[in-house]
Amino acid sequence: MRFIALATAALAALTASVAGINDLAQFKVKSKVIEGNTKFCGLWGSLYHTGAGMWDVTFQDNRTAGWYSFINNTQFQWAYPTPTNTESDDIPWALDLQYQAYNAWGTIEVSAGYGSEYYGRNFTVAENGTIVSDFEEWAGWLICDWGHQVPQLFWAQIAYNITVLCSCARVELYADTGSPSS
Ligand SMILES: *[C@@H]1O[C@H](CO)[C@@H](O)[C@H](O)[C@H]1NC(C)=O
Ligand SMILES: *[C@@H]1O[C@H](CO)[C@@H](O)[C@H](O)[C@H]1NC(C)=O
Ligand SMILES: *[C@@H]1O[C@H](CO)[C@@H](O)[C@H](O)[C@H]1NC(C)=O
Ligand SMILES: *[C@@H]1O[C@H](CO)[C@@H](O)[C@H](O)[C@H]1NC(C)=O
Ligand SMILES: *[C@@H]1O[C@H](CO)[C@@H](O)[C@H](O)[C@H]1NC(C)=O
Repeated sequence: MRFIALATAALAALTASVAGINDLAQFKVKSKVIEGNTKFCGLWGSLYHTGAGMWDVTFQDNRTAGWYSFINNTQFQWAYPTPTNTESDDIPWALDLQYQAYNAWGTIEVSAGYGSEYYGRNFTVAENGTIVSDFEEWAGWLICDWGHQVPQLFWAQIAYNITVLCSCARVELYADTGSPSS
């Protein structure tokens, strides 16, 4: 009996490491620091309104306050958090990496629509549950304390060796479905 319980637990752990999140399945975005300031570990992604139809991705330590997002055929979309059937619930919000000239890392914008053909494609959830991109210029995610005075998401450019500032961390973003196996 005890053996079976242990074996079941081991199997569950094994299953958990193979996330396999389907297209359009909603998840919350959880950070894990791989280099730099560990205070950016275990934070949840949400959107921060910056103008008409524009948002930055910011983080907080409260899962409930995190927004749901999903991958739609390599577009990285965010779901409006209040299911109130208002018009804004029907607007698609997609994440675009922003063009950078001579910058080691750059900004990200979420705006109405399905994202640009170049900067808003190629996102997937990898087998290990991390949100990655095979966009030719993308080299990972960063979270930094920035202008909104809360942790904010940035992207690393492939042609640079990044010196991680003490106000930043290199992170992996995990797609958390909230189900026991995730
Ligand atoms: C977490 O966020 C939710 C939704 O914004 C809020 O209602 C709740 O009070 C927050 N909890 C904590 C502990 O901050
Ligand atoms: C997924 O993206 C396509 C356009 O690329 C759009 O027609 C469709 O409505 C999107 N699905 C969702 C759930 O946003
Ligand atoms: C998760 O998978 C991605 C894509 O294959 C890889 O780059 C990353 O290093 C992996 N992370 C861990 C912790 O294994
Ligand atoms: C997106 O991914 C495809 C398939 O891996 C690749 O051929 C293409 O070059 C990528 N696009 C960009 C802009 O990096
Ligand atoms: C990054 O660092 C590696 C190892 O020090 C070096 O080989 C490479 O040329 C550097 N790349 C750039 C773009 O500076």
